[in-house]
Amino acid sequence: MAEIRIRNTNERITGEANVKAFLDKQEVLYEHWNASKLPAPLQNKFLLNDEEKSGILATYDEEIRDLAQRRGYKTWDIIALSDATPNLDELLKKFEQVHTHTEDEVRAITAGKGIFIIKGSEDVGYFDVELEAGDVISVPENKPHFFTLMENRQIVAVRLFIETEGWIAHPFADASFQKA
Ligand SMILES: [Fe+2]
Repeated sequence: MAEIRIRNTNERITGEANVKAFLDKQEVLYEHWNASKLPAPLQNKFLLNDEEKSGILATYDEEIRDLAQRRGYKTWDIIALSDATPNLDELLKKFEQVHTHTEDEVRAITAGKGIFIIKGSEDVGYFDVELEAGDVISVPENKPHFFTLMENRQIVAVRLFIETEGWIAHPFADASFQKA
């Protein structure tokens, strides 16, 4: 289940209802899929061939189509990152910059862990959303954020897009952001 850490105060928010209430207020979509639906061999595998990626998409076909229908997503794919990913450190350096885009950023975590760092309302400031398998999040369009891995450095997620071409990151220069 996702957990929140508010960076300014180090306050943590746990428990599905509390996390959901907090994210609702910040206009961040949070839902949950059944992580144990995924065949056991795929629950801990981070280097995936095309067949395995298709298997994950097939497992969650109903959930994906439901979300896509409600929110207008037209395409989806699988992203897998781990120490087996070539140039992982370089990739993470690129990821770890606050940015915005004109589409929302949807991730449904199917294995591993990851963090979204998001700029919240004025009174909250930046907060971390720590995600694990089963967590589904959408960071709204134009909301400053970035994504990174957690200490285990491995994740598999479904990404959903309205238009893949329109999904370009715009750097968001923010003097108030402090890496922590
Ligand atoms: Fe992004």
